[in-house]
Amino acid sequence: MNFNDYKQAVEQLNIYARHYYVLDDPLTTDEVYDKLYHEVLAYEESNPNNILSNSPTQRVGDLISDGFTKAPHLSRMWSLEDIFDSEGLEKWLIKTYKLDENITFYCEPKFDGASLNLIYKDGKLFQGITRGDGEIGELITQNVKTIRSIPLTIKHKERIEIRGEVVIFKDDFIKINDERLKNNEAIFANPRNAAAGSLRQLDSSITASRNLVFLPYGVGENTLEHKLLSDKMTYIYELGFKKPPNSSLCKGFEEIEEAYKAMKRDRDSYSMLLDGMVIKVNEISSQIDMGYTVKVPRFSVAYKFPAVEKITTVKEITLQVGRTGAVTPVAIVEPTDIDGVVVERATLHNFDEIDRKDIRLGDRVIILRSGDVIPKIIKVLTHERNGNEIKFERPKLCPVCQSELLQEDVLIKCQNLTCEARVINSIIYFASKPCLDIDGLGNKIVEALFNSGLVKSVVDLFDLTLEKLLKLDGFKEKKSKNLLESLENAKGKDYWRFINSLGIEHVGEVASKTLSDNFGFAFIDASKEQIVECDGIGNEMAESILEFVRVNRETILELQNILKPKEPIKKEEAYENPFKGKTAVLTGTMSVSRGVIKEMLENLGAKISGNVSKKTDFLIYGKDAGSKYDKAKKLDVKCLNENEMRELL
Ligand code: IVH
Repeated sequence: MNFNDYKQAVEQLNIYARHYYVLDDPLTTDEVYDKLYHEVLAYEESNPNNILSNSPTQRVGDLISDGFTKAPHLSRMWSLEDIFDSEGLEKWLIKTYKLDENITFYCEPKFDGASLNLIYKDGKLFQGITRGDGEIGELITQNVKTIRSIPLTIKHKERIEIRGEVVIFKDDFIKINDERLKNNEAIFANPRNAAAGSLRQLDSSITASRNLVFLPYGVGENTLEHKLLSDKMTYIYELGFKKPPNSSLCKGFEEIEEAYKAMKRDRDSYSMLLDGMVIKVNEISSQIDMGYTVKVPRFSVAYKFPAVEKITTVKEITLQVGRTGAVTPVAIVEPTDIDGVVVERATLHNFDEIDRKDIRLGDRVIILRSGDVIPKIIKVLTHERNGNEIKFERPKLCPVCQSELLQEDVLIKCQNLTCEARVINSIIYFASKPCLDIDGLGNKIVEALFNSGLVKSVVDLFDLTLEKLLKLDGFKEKKSKNLLESLENAKGKDYWRFINSLGIEHVGEVASKTLSDNFGFAFIDASKEQIVECDGIGNEMAESILEFVRVNRETILELQNILKPKEPIKKEEAYENPFKGKTAVLTGTMSVSRGVIKEMLENLGAKISGNVSKKTDFLIYGKDAGSKYDKAKKLDVKCLNENEMRELL
């Protein structure tokens, strides 16, 4: 790189940064930014006299916006230097060992969320401040107070700053986006954006509804005297903070590499997104001696995982028809390797989402694939358009059966119940894990059975015989026998699986269990009033159940007769007691696990609900009860602590 290239790279980085931080509209991926940033850094290291003052390496941290009151951190919030491979690690270790050779390392996951600083005074949460530019952040104390994993009081009475990452678990992220899609709202690009966006809401009730989790990773100003970071962190967890998973103590290169490889291998199994592993010198006195560069601590480094966002091109948009008839657009993209997996397809959710993002054929886009999140397009690089991109037209006919499509809320649906795609997908769903869990009925086999004409509905599956199967192409004796055995094993399973396998719209595993527990085989005769009485079942779901039963009663009974599912055992009628027939909500930490208390109350004939509402009769609360307790008080629900509950009995 010569000075001219360097100057251009700095300008480009500044444009990227402005779009990312100020306009909330990134122009490229972190990976592209990081690569250019490191080229700039390398140039500056070899040409220290030529460093431009507007180089992003000379700037500290994020920019701050105008919406919230600003507040200073008591001590600066630093960022971390990144390394990407074992070579980077080796270089960092050589540099660090030069400063002090008697050191060990505390390694923990790098969580992909939003940084937060918590200031406690006299054992009380005083302020919650976003990272901002590292010196000054935004005061979001009200929002922070809604996060259940942040204690409002701690036993440590001296002033202390506790720092950590606010994250959204992957499951919750998917739920939030599903909900937003249903409400025709723009979806969050990734859990990090969702966490940051939820934290900076002007209405704290929105923050409260998002299930944010705070994972502490260190302290700022403090009077703690621990000699080791690991002991300091143990103390922080003892104050009531959540202990993040999987920290380890490592001695040198080999052990750090091993910890990194294991964490990278298992990254998908974590509930939250990880974007690397943070390595920190464990000895506090060495940390102090090593100190900081202008930007980062010398005693710590982020060992990043391969990027999960890449740039690619949309080649085509195809349409998939699901078992409910919903037509989903799927983008076919230029094959791109993301963290070892070649991605060729990305979900586009629904047609409004295509319009909202203005995705066109031929567009350059940023695509995200991370663990169990299905690959998706998170942004179109509109500035890279050349005018040849083609707008996508919404379909009017089902791409499979050519019948007319109808718009239902945000979905476009094929109305033809015998549409091949709908039938095949219902059979695949019927056999899937959370339904009847039938081995050997994957997509290809179901399609083959359907195309042979032998199976046109799930009921036909149970008329299959060895003789019939052996006549089909690709069905040898072993495969056919295995399939027949799996079908036989589908008999006598729990009744909730049977209900779930019917594929009633809006009814998933949880609702199927509720219906099975509450009604058993009588669920097909339950009235709307009885159904909405059940915990977690609302109007829309009840209507969908009634409509399904009305149209399919005969088939349900026929299938039930074939499959002979196991009806749940009815609990014995409870004796008279103050909780019988009442609805209770449990919250906070009890002397035994909440599950034990739940079971005890259920045996007494109580219904346990997850949410406090006007219908709640009792709130039973333990230590650190939070928003449910406040809501119960507001609604005048009788609140009992564990002792009072036992006394009543
Ligand atoms: S330590 C002295 N540990 O990563 C620097 N940071 O890229 C303090 N982060 O701003 C950071 N997980 O928001 C540390 N286990 C972890 C982390 C972590 C996530 C974030 C943090 C920081 C950023 C730096």
